[in-house]
Amino acid sequence: MLSDTSLPIIKATLPVVGENIHEIARRFYDHMFKGRPELLDGLFNRGNQADGHQQQALAGSIAAFATNLVDNPDNLPDHLLNRVAHKHVSLGLRPNQYAIVHENLMWAIVDVLGDAVTPEVVAAWDEVYWLMANMLINKERGLYSAVDLNPDEIWRTWEVVERREETAEVVTFVVKRTDPRPTKQSLPGQYVSLKMLMKDGVHQLRQYSLTAADDGDHRQFAVKRVQGIQGAPDGEMSNLLHDTVKVGDRVQLSAPFGDVVLNYSNRPLVLASAGIGITPMAGMLSHTVKSDTDRKIQLLHADGEPGTFALRRQVEDSLAQLNEGKLDAWFEHPDGTMAENEHSGYMNIDDVQLPEDAEYYLCGPLAFMKLVRSALIARGIPAKDIQYEVFGPDLWLADFQ
Ligand code: HEM
Repeated sequence: MLSDTSLPIIKATLPVVGENIHEIARRFYDHMFKGRPELLDGLFNRGNQADGHQQQALAGSIAAFATNLVDNPDNLPDHLLNRVAHKHVSLGLRPNQYAIVHENLMWAIVDVLGDAVTPEVVAAWDEVYWLMANMLINKERGLYSAVDLNPDEIWRTWEVVERREETAEVVTFVVKRTDPRPTKQSLPGQYVSLKMLMKDGVHQLRQYSLTAADDGDHRQFAVKRVQGIQGAPDGEMSNLLHDTVKVGDRVQLSAPFGDVVLNYSNRPLVLASAGIGITPMAGMLSHTVKSDTDRKIQLLHADGEPGTFALRRQVEDSLAQLNEGKLDAWFEHPDGTMAENEHSGYMNIDDVQLPEDAEYYLCGPLAFMKLVRSALIARGIPAKDIQYEVFGPDLWLADFQ
């Protein structure tokens, strides 16, 4: 895929770009937001900028893509491209914005690496950038066209018709369509972006998994209050939603997107989640009930304590309506007597009897998913049967080293 001219140059410069990727990412974003401050109003998540995760994700993903072009050019990272494309369209990204990122990223590479960046090196990285950008632009065009919307049309106004406190930290919002245009049904596991005006007059966007199959007029999602730990700031969007949004308020939601969705199949299904990672699982279970399948379903869930297990009643109701629907729960701090399907400590897959030929979906903190995925692979589950959803920028994908 890379031209014969660029291939050796990328091979030779990947180590130095990799070593300096954090600094390149930092300067790229600083420079871009100085020149285009409007990108922080209604597009980029300033919480992710504050902790540097988005910076690593974007720049890291380009380095990961370049590594792939060098090492495995016939097998491009489809998972990475799909994830990014879905995230981008849920934000209403437009193709002409790629030139902004290009200009600022190339500026940062030259700024950090200095004299090492000859015109040939610039041309080679330019080629990598546009190979990736054009693939994303094409995928994004396909996603917009699948929902029959252009980037300016993905937002709709919805009215909050129900607010349910699930646990001390998690609240469910049910919203009703106010816009007469018909909406697309979501697929099991998808999310929507929510756009809100912050107290200082700046718009912010966040993604929330849909926790129920929609009926065309309603959507349902759950929000965990993000409390900053180790000096990190509290989540401004989740706190605003928890503290101020009530029944009768109006909110802006994007059309549903997200590439980690249930396959159309009759194979047994095993869902493994931790904490707020229960949300896409609740959506998948609700869709499965609605589809009236006889698929066998097993939910494995880990949480701090029984009282922090959000959406428990909803997922248990769904499981009760499914073929051999079964829950096993692990609690770090169990309280009182434990039911037969409750266990203390961290989730331990080795104790679980798994169905033959199942498909697996994981959602929770990265460390949790890495452990569960490794345990599944060790038990002989083929990698192709394990999908996972990461909340926040996916640093697993960007970890090209
Ligand atoms: C998110 C890569 C172009 C705006 C992301 C993520 C990656 C990425 C890896 C994180 C996905 C995740 O795991 O959640 C890229 C690459 C690009 C590119 C490789 C070019 C080749 C752009 C452009 C814009 C943009 C042109 C807009 C000017 C965003 C925003 C997010 C995002 C707003 C969400 C992150 C947040 O909320 O802070 N992109 N991107 N990206 N990207 Fe891009």
